[in-house]
Amino acid sequence: GKSGYDHYMRKEIAEQPRAIRDCLRGRVEELAASVSLPELEGLEEPSSVQLVACGTSYHAGLFGERLFQRRGIPAQTFVASEYDAGSVPVDEDTLVVAVTQSGETADTMQALRGANRAGATTLAVTNVVASSAAREAEYACYVRAGPEISVAATKSFASQQVTLSLLASALAGPQSHEFLRELRRLPDYIQAVLDRSSVRDLVGELLDADAYFFVGRGYNAPVALEGALKLKEISYRHAEGFPAGELKHGPLALVTAETPVFALVSGREHTAETIGNVKEVQARRAPVVAVTDVPETVERHAEFVLEVPETHPAVMPIVANVQLQLLAYWLANALGRPIDKPRNLAKSVTVR
Ligand code: F6R
Repeated sequence: GKSGYDHYMRKEIAEQPRAIRDCLRGRVEELAASVSLPELEGLEEPSSVQLVACGTSYHAGLFGERLFQRRGIPAQTFVASEYDAGSVPVDEDTLVVAVTQSGETADTMQALRGANRAGATTLAVTNVVASSAAREAEYACYVRAGPEISVAATKSFASQQVTLSLLASALAGPQSHEFLRELRRLPDYIQAVLDRSSVRDLVGELLDADAYFFVGRGYNAPVALEGALKLKEISYRHAEGFPAGELKHGPLALVTAETPVFALVSGREHTAETIGNVKEVQARRAPVVAVTDVPETVERHAEFVLEVPETHPAVMPIVANVQLQLLAYWLANALGRPIDKPRNLAKSVTVR
């Protein structure tokens, strides 16, 4: 059941601290600063990584790509339906990672099978035990989010982000003790957002809009895309996400007083540049909502601030995303949408 919540989506958002604890259980040795993923026994550091996925899982892939790159492993993410293992060179030192909640998405399976045929080493990062992806990939690593009923992916995305964080650390070594320590604290940070988020009070002021834009840089860029996808899926409002630096290369032409802009601002990375982008939209009178771990720094550039706890720059976006999940939920709720079953969408897309 929905455990007293009105919708599965709301319940699944609330389950994220538990889902992440399950994902981390037995896998992190903080003192030794090491990660162990016994299911990957025998898998060595690849010369490069290709991630293939669709929708929300694609956004998790983009997040994972950044983690690999920071650790010196070249990585690239592909929309699964656009992936062609024949034209992107792969060999057995190439690790192709299929990121898929259901493990049954036809586009992702097609990409995975192509990678298998081309001789890549393949890995499924999936939520569903013994799913097609888990069976057909050489290796499988489970995200352990638990069953996700709502069509809109929420807790599975957070669990994918955490699993890819563990995977990057397992294959290339963690960047820092701090990163693993902060991953361990992530459930508490998310709980703090769930307990204190003011986003529900804000949606009333943002209901009349032409469109909603989401921007972020670095690790936050994929979360900007995900924030927009979640909002469009369940509210049916026009929403777009951009890397913040892209605003001035086109999207800025659409920015008016009727286009709220959600800006993800990390206090540790790209802070000044992102605030610079925020100023550009502010000058066009767009209502700015900052999602940030440095509220004092951002305050005077934003109409509203949604605070998240201060943490490692690769962990902050996982927490910030929860604010955007709640935004999509409460906005869709205010509009009376059928949140768990949005029109035209299915939980598992088994056609190409
Ligand atoms: C968004 C959503 C879809 C899925 C996509 C991939 O909320 O649910 O975009 O993320 O269809 O599905 P999986 O992860 O099962 O391969």
